[in-house]
Amino acid sequence: MVVYMKHPLILHKITMLRDERTGTSDFRKLVEEIAMLMGYEALADLKTHQVEIKTPIEDTIQPVLDGRKPAVIPILRAGLGMVGGLLALLPNAKVGHIGMYRDEETHTPHAYYCKLPPFMEERLAIVVDPMLATGGSLIDAVNEIKKSGCQNIKCMCIIAAPEGVAAFTKTHPDVTLYVGALDRCLNENAYICPGLGDAGDRIFGTK
Ligand code: PRP
Ligand code: URA
Repeated sequence: MVVYMKHPLILHKITMLRDERTGTSDFRKLVEEIAMLMGYEALADLKTHQVEIKTPIEDTIQPVLDGRKPAVIPILRAGLGMVGGLLALLPNAKVGHIGMYRDEETHTPHAYYCKLPPFMEERLAIVVDPMLATGGSLIDAVNEIKKSGCQNIKCMCIIAAPEGVAAFTKTHPDVTLYVGALDRCLNENAYICPGLGDAGDRIFGTK
């Protein structure tokens, strides 16, 4: 399933993010804010159970989050920019890392790092990467996460190309994909149009 964001605050912030005049510091802030707003929408179905607490007034039974702490899993590098936004919502979440880079010629992903928290089979994994272009990186990252036994996976991408959405949903129909904005197409270099350029370079100031 693919869920497209409709909230005007998210759409407004994505427009600011795309603007080539947006510098590194504002870009980082926006990525984090968008991740938090998207996370709020994506986590609306988290399960709760009832606990007994005591307010200053009386005893009461109230809901708290159920189960093991979720794992936020950024795809390096650009996904790192979204982690703070998710941790603002889930301060106790575990954080795993998956390193992927796209070959500049073939645009195919290469994995260079994977470190996930223990007991992934009992956790919700929230995979974050601002860009879904061909879909190769996210598809491989989710393959890795599934190998850990994890079956409850949500992915969040700020901007996606139709090609990437189609490839991802075909390979992982059981994973819900949350997309901030669906763009027109990929160009000959597999960059998203209109997109925002290279997310990693804009977050880390490497170009
Ligand atoms: C970017 C982006 C995704 C990937 C998307 O990372 O952050 O991980 O490209 O492209 P795909 O859908 O075609 O696989 P990149 O490989 O540029 O690495 P970086 O984050 O280290 O800059
Ligand atoms: N990765 C990016 O950072 N931007 C794109 O447009 C495509 C892949």
